[in-house]
Amino acid sequence: MNVTAPLEATDFVIFGGTGDLALRKLLPALLLRLRDGQLPTRTRVVAVSRAGLDDAGYRDKVRGALPEFVPGVTSGEIDDFAARLEHVCLDVDEPDDWHPLGDRLRERANPVRVFYLAVGPALFGTICHRLDEIGLVQPSSRVVLEKPLGHDLASAREINDSVGEVFAESQIFRIDHYLGKESVQNLLVTRFANSVFEPLWHATAIDHVQITVAESVGVGSRGGYYDSAGAMRDMLQNHLLQLLCLVAMEPPTQVAGESVRDEKLKVLQALTPLEDLDGACVLGQYTAGLVDGAAAPSYVEEVEAPSRTETFVALRAEVRNWRWAGVPFYLRTGKRMRERCSEIVVAFKPTPHPMFPGSEGTQEPNRLVMRLQPDESVRLHLVAKEPGPGGIRVRPVSLDLNFSQAFGAPSPDAYERLLMDVVRGNTTLFMRRDEIEAAWRWVEPIIRGVGARRPRPYAAGTDGPAAADLLIERDGRSWNEDVTR
Ligand code: BG6
Repeated sequence: MNVTAPLEATDFVIFGGTGDLALRKLLPALLLRLRDGQLPTRTRVVAVSRAGLDDAGYRDKVRGALPEFVPGVTSGEIDDFAARLEHVCLDVDEPDDWHPLGDRLRERANPVRVFYLAVGPALFGTICHRLDEIGLVQPSSRVVLEKPLGHDLASAREINDSVGEVFAESQIFRIDHYLGKESVQNLLVTRFANSVFEPLWHATAIDHVQITVAESVGVGSRGGYYDSAGAMRDMLQNHLLQLLCLVAMEPPTQVAGESVRDEKLKVLQALTPLEDLDGACVLGQYTAGLVDGAAAPSYVEEVEAPSRTETFVALRAEVRNWRWAGVPFYLRTGKRMRERCSEIVVAFKPTPHPMFPGSEGTQEPNRLVMRLQPDESVRLHLVAKEPGPGGIRVRPVSLDLNFSQAFGAPSPDAYERLLMDVVRGNTTLFMRRDEIEAAWRWVEPIIRGVGARRPRPYAAGTDGPAAADLLIERDGRSWNEDVTR
């Protein structure tokens, strides 16, 4: 059954059209939505870059790249998609270069125009102003901004101000691709479409929350960008804080309009400033090691320069409000860890009184483990009676729901969903200006506070520095064992 609603014909204008993001994510997502009939065949993709390519040259480049990123795609599907691709060679700083783009877009213009800025944030303001100067911005135009949105609060504000001089907030789509992941949207559904969780979603029943986003990959060819960002700016300020918001926010009145963004903002504003940085924040950087049995180089070897940039961060956050007072949120993320695994663990309080003799140590507190990737699942860890005679012996068991087994369908990529939301003009799964700024307001003092620190080394293929274990063990807790093994 086709459950996608067809959308209006759109001109996608991708700045950075020959870049990694365009080839790996954006073009595959558009191909798949066109193939499913969600986008009308009049849809056009105009790639903009400094590469001296004509349309035919660009189409060849894309034809060569797509099979790697769209498994199983046929040559007929690629040809059909390539026919909708155009390329405009443009240097953002050369005013004369902009006219050919204007001419292209005015020829047989589609009703919706999406400007996707898959370029560095330093260019966001200039591109928006140039688009406006040559009359390409209409009420039905939208602009999509890729992260990072600045490197601190002041630079984020500057970008927001500059883009905001051209586009209204309702036309600005700040991407955090984690919000487009099926598993992340499922987090909303698990919390709010089931009544069993809400009465327990509270400091009275919950002991603590863990959010882990572990990657097995290193920085690869992105060292230039990553070395000036680090895990704090690359992952914590956006993806991890967005996940924290979805776990901690109050029920929105609806999953539409501004409701979700309003509730997320309140969580960000309630984050307690991290004062005890020595006790509450651990940074790490990977050294050479073994990942999946293969030798992996150190971070310094990958970026080919001495560096103090953190590739791992673990910290203890608190949300200062009625619902969460006294409940720690332990966050950690890192590259070149044992395996790729993102999970949210909601750890409930132990029972108030041990009724079953001899159950100490086997009667573990309940945990709800939401695995976001890979193998999306929800597991509820319970305690059950071990079958057989000899009195009542208890032991942990889990209720397991694996989504791909339950629904028998693989999840689409986050960009497919997000790009269609841009065409629809639905900003729910995008970050609003005040959210981004609130996130920077909390993260920036931490980055400044730990600035002079040398990150602790951890071998590639492990769970990060031992100090990250101590961070949580000092509170009498431990990282969820299922998380990385
Ligand atoms: C990006 C970061 O936003 O997210 C990358 O810049 C990171 O460094 C990536 O690897 C992780 O995304 P995913 O979807 O693979 O979990």
